[in-house]
Amino acid sequence: MPHLIAPSVLAANFGQLDRDVEMLNQSSADWIHVDVMDGRFVPNISFGFPVLQAIQKVAQKPLDVHLMIEHPELYIEQFREGGAEIISVHYEACPHLHRTLQQIKACGAKAGVALNPHTPVSLLSEVIQDIDVVILMSVNPGFGGQKFISNTYQKIRELKALINAKGSSCLIEIDGGVNEENAPLLLSAGADVLVAGSFVFNSQNPTQTIQDLKQITF
Ligand code: DX5
Ligand code: ZN
Repeated sequence: MPHLIAPSVLAANFGQLDRDVEMLNQSSADWIHVDVMDGRFVPNISFGFPVLQAIQKVAQKPLDVHLMIEHPELYIEQFREGGAEIISVHYEACPHLHRTLQQIKACGAKAGVALNPHTPVSLLSEVIQDIDVVILMSVNPGFGGQKFISNTYQKIRELKALINAKGSSCLIEIDGGVNEENAPLLLSAGADVLVAGSFVFNSQNPTQTIQDLKQITF
């Protein structure tokens, strides 16, 4: 499968969100990554349902919603109604992760689990078959524009081994500090989906930057 690119709208211009989402529609982006932060699970607040709905109205690509919130189980259905096709919850926020994954699937979305940089992939061994996508955080969640943590390469290889050992078809998504230098290394380590926020939106030509990430060979 060719790798997927998921630009993060966290780095978009919120005063011209329609324009930026339309740019993503016209680009070679595969998914649109939407970062929801509650000021509790992470030390920052991004946006909630009204902004998600504004994105949904314009977006023509699957919305990949990354919930950096406590008690995500309280809001799964609402995010689905807001247009989420992939809903990812944090391992660290879910004492009943298996139940929450079933809840996400029951409303028709794909189920994702995000791991903080310090969380080992081995903790997913009993649920990997229930997961559609694992997001490996390559920065501490909460902010765009942070420096990539290089321990991520090792985690990708470990996760790939776990997925193969369990016969899972789960995708590996990398989120945080992705750029043109680390992208080929991430892909050759086994990543399937690359999130990119500031690298795309702070570039001179975001459409071209997305295309460049999409065309990486490794
Ligand atoms: C970080 C978010 C990321 C963020 C990535 O908490 O989950 O999705 O938008 O931004 P960059 O690519 O700038 O690190
Ligand atoms: Zn994210």
